Amino acid sequence: MGKIIRVAGSLVEANGMRGSSMYELVKIGDEGLTGEIIRLVGDTASIQVYEDTTGLMPGEPADAMGKSLCVELGPGVIKSIYDGIQRPLNLIRDKAGDYISRGITVPPIDKNKKWEFLPKAKVGDKLASGDIIGEIKETKVITNRVMVPPGVGGTVERIEDGKFKVTDTVCVLKDDKKEHEISSMQIWPVRKPRPFKKKLESSVPMISGQRVFDTFFPIASGGTAAIPGGFGTGKTVSQHQLAKWVDAEVIVYVGCGERGNEMTEVLEEFPKLEDPKNKLPLMERTCLIANTSNMPVAAREASVYTGITLAEYYRDMGYNTAVMADSTSRWAEAMREISGRLEEMPGEEGYPAYLASRLAEFYERSGRVIALGSEERTGSVSVIGAVSPPGGDFSEPVTQNTLRVTHVFWALDAKLADRRHFPAINWLTSYSLYTESLKEWFKENVAEDWTNKRTEAMVILQKESELREIVQLVGPDALPDREKVVLDVARMLREDFLQQNAFHEVDTYCSPQKQYKMLSLILKFYEKAMIALENGMEPSEINQLDVIDDIAKMKFIPEEKFDDEFNRLTKKIDMQLERAG
Ligand SMILES: Nc1ncnc2c1ncn2[C@@H]1O[C@H](COP(=O)(O)OP(=O)(O)OP(=O)(O)O)[C@@H](O)[C@H]1O
Ligand SMILES: [Mg+2]
Repeated sequence: MGKIIRVAGSLVEANGMRGSSMYELVKIGDEGLTGEIIRLVGDTASIQVYEDTTGLMPGEPADAMGKSLCVELGPGVIKSIYDGIQRPLNLIRDKAGDYISRGITVPPIDKNKKWEFLPKAKVGDKLASGDIIGEIKETKVITNRVMVPPGVGGTVERIEDGKFKVTDTVCVLKDDKKEHEISSMQIWPVRKPRPFKKKLESSVPMISGQRVFDTFFPIASGGTAAIPGGFGTGKTVSQHQLAKWVDAEVIVYVGCGERGNEMTEVLEEFPKLEDPKNKLPLMERTCLIANTSNMPVAAREASVYTGITLAEYYRDMGYNTAVMADSTSRWAEAMREISGRLEEMPGEEGYPAYLASRLAEFYERSGRVIALGSEERTGSVSVIGAVSPPGGDFSEPVTQNTLRVTHVFWALDAKLADRRHFPAINWLTSYSLYTESLKEWFKENVAEDWTNKRTEAMVILQKESELREIVQLVGPDALPDREKVVLDVARMLREDFLQQNAFHEVDTYCSPQKQYKMLSLILKFYEKAMIALENGMEPSEINQLDVIDDIAKMKFIPEEKFDDEFNRLTKKIDMQLERAG
């Protein structure tokens, strides 16, 4: 047993720790606070403590626990609200009030609840890691597939059917050496990625129903995206929209708020959100991890690992999962604070030198994979991280190092937010590296010329930005007619297509089919307008046409009525622009 020699905030040093290992958990002090070893020199360990260390004194014990920071994986994870080290916040609150008191232990998943276990394997079956032994209806929408844990296998000796606690043995496997008792709960160290069979290509998009994302800068299922943005530019609204609408089956939302009330909003708001797909609470397929500023930094540092491990667990069952982290800057700041206390050599802006590798390791846990198990199933973990660069300056280290590893960059722009162009994603600076690999999918599932339409729209918007500079110098009247029309159409693309109101009943979600049709109508208008110009129509006449109002309103037409509207507008564009011919 070790002894505390120094306490500095959440960092504790203890000696007499020979034999312990990196990331091993330690019980600290007489109250038994939990901490994790983050540095070992000789027999002295530096330990980051997940709880408030006030009153802790040198001389108190430090007791290595022989295991690393783990999460409990089993039915009951979904619908839970945890802190960064998987303590159930609502249960803790019931027990201890709003502030988490120290040394309190509440199990992450309920050990008394009995779940109906439906066996899927039978006696005599030979099972390997990842094979499904049975199913438990975890929530109204998620079936928990109870799997043989990684590294275990054998022949089924016994399998149960009925109601069991998560710790009860539901299946006994026997290999040539021993018997393995398997329950519906697994324990997994958060800093270690869960194994899978094979990583797959990013050839399927994760559809979000947000036009600027799906059409312009799509993310693949199993992909990574960064949403950096200054104060109030729309990071949280975007993350909420994604949590609600992406076509992933399981959502893990990691909130690292800087202000206490920001997280309270999430904690109050999320349980009220309705899943648009089935009208059930969104929590039926969501797990929430919440950190507030009054929680110790170490728990915040751990929270992203906890989140991604939970997502990997559902991925292994064959689900598409998505992890949203808002904001990863708070996580990076936690790293910086801990590194500072360790007196490590600081890197850029005081962040530790390993900031880049930590970010990379985190995002690399994303992916669409073939899960372990004999019966082939695919699952995915997509990761979307918001970044809040101070002053909205994207050249700072967290944004830069994030962009180095994420494949999609959704750049929030303070100028657009000021103009109330929402989502305030800058269409000129954002990018998606998945555009090429998702081309085929859009071609097969939405429209043959999906990519062409997208490119055409982008070209018009780029042209607009060039023309704007000229307009600023010489005024719009000096532009040739064709370019006046380019400006009109670019405005339509921005206002009628890219702008999307998260709070409007219809506009909040737009299927890829509707996105395609909306874009097609604007581009058709463009094409016909150019012909009309040739035929002598004036730009001033063109921009007075009342079909322009119809185009502006199309985003508010519900999906089920949109086909009719599309046909009507197609004819109307022809009529109004051919009149000149
Ligand atoms: N898609 C959207 N549709 C409508 N309004 C939006 C949208 N996105 C953002 N907004 C508006 O912008 C406001 C600020 O957005 P949000 O809270 O998401 O910003 P943030 O970047 O998370 O800010 P902070 O830096 O404070 O965390 C919202 O309250 C809302 O009024
Ligand atoms: Mg926010």
